[in-house]
Amino acid sequence: MREVAIVGIGMTPFGELWQDSLRNLFAKAALAAIDDAGVDHIDGMYIGAMSTGLFVGQEHIASLMADYLGMPGVPAAHVESACASGGIAVRQAFFEVASGAGEIILAGGVEKMNDGADTTYVLATAADQEYEAFHGVTFPGLYAMIARAHIHKYGTTREQLADVAVKNHENGFKNPNAQFRMKIDRETVMNSTMVADPLRLLDCSPVTDGAAAVIVASMDVAKKLARPYVKIKASAMATDSLALHSRKDLAALPAVQKAAERAYKQAGVTPDKIDVMEVHDCFTIAELVVMEELGLVERGKAGAAVSAGMTRLGGKIPVNTSGGLKSKGHPVGATGVAQVIEIVEQLRGAAGDRQVANAGLGLTQNMGGSGGSCVIHILEAMS
Ligand code: COA
Repeated sequence: MREVAIVGIGMTPFGELWQDSLRNLFAKAALAAIDDAGVDHIDGMYIGAMSTGLFVGQEHIASLMADYLGMPGVPAAHVESACASGGIAVRQAFFEVASGAGEIILAGGVEKMNDGADTTYVLATAADQEYEAFHGVTFPGLYAMIARAHIHKYGTTREQLADVAVKNHENGFKNPNAQFRMKIDRETVMNSTMVADPLRLLDCSPVTDGAAAVIVASMDVAKKLARPYVKIKASAMATDSLALHSRKDLAALPAVQKAAERAYKQAGVTPDKIDVMEVHDCFTIAELVVMEELGLVERGKAGAAVSAGMTRLGGKIPVNTSGGLKSKGHPVGATGVAQVIEIVEQLRGAAGDRQVANAGLGLTQNMGGSGGSCVIHILEAMS
């Protein structure tokens, strides 16, 4: 396989974007990425989106977007793995370039969740329909069960969950693209409205519109473009049962552990070598379990590590410098691509107030549903 780089990035702000249609959002992100890369064409395109059919009544989006971008004829495909759809789009682009089939591929993600659909119902279609969603469980409900199991097994505290949200809002406050740019404190999280016990409003990622895109290219192209680029050192994935009841341990996310093992092996690195990470904090408990599955801390120790400041900016390993899904927002199909954008900015040294000093290696962890799929990328600074 050939070496592969990311040569351009572009995204819309995340939020309630009433003024933009689905296609406008995608086009804005895609054109910004093309412009950032300085390329005059793309050889193909992958678009991650979870459920544009149910959210806005539009399917067949890959051809629609190619046409709307003024690129009729370009090969384009829509990929879906619930909230990991964006990560899958980057992974498909990686393989197309690594195999030599394409030189310059756009990987994007988009979702418009605020246009009137029953968002909770649409999101629940990513759970096991027959055994979970049909009986009325929602994603906050599923992650609440994971939180309960973690609290029961390891003694994780309500305060530790709150500290994840506090940290991510502190970072998101510095991100102009974030949906909820406000600092919060522990008490505000712990007194916010109960959603699914023990998870409260400020433990949850919000409902978000937005799009993100990156340009993936061969190393030859990257060098010729003579602009800042980063290398994709690993692209790994794993799956698990959709239904929580099929899993041995509710306080674990095995797909994350398996994808991480594959990614570290591919990149030839250990977790302690990573300088900055974007992880899938769809709920505060998710960030804690993911930290444990990625090998940052021993099982059961993530809550204490967050409260001790290990993952803050300036800490041992900053996690979710963008604000994460919690503060930046979570337009589900776009999230995996936006995570990659934050790490590219960090590795370029262009993250402004959120910059991690001397960031050389970064990791993104993007998850579908309650851990039924997980995609991990490891990226390396090149210039
Ligand atoms: N963080 C911070 N503030 C939030 C928020 C969040 N996650 N979600 C909503 N708000 C704010 C709104 O801005 C609004 O503030 P205002 O009253 O000052 O205008 C207020 O809280 C109520 O917003 P509303 O849209 O009525 O909330 P809701 O009760 O309809 O939805 C959740 C709240 C948590 C249920 C919803 O955001 C949700 O379902 N999140 C999870 C999404 C999800 O499951 N994603 C997939 C993960 S796998």
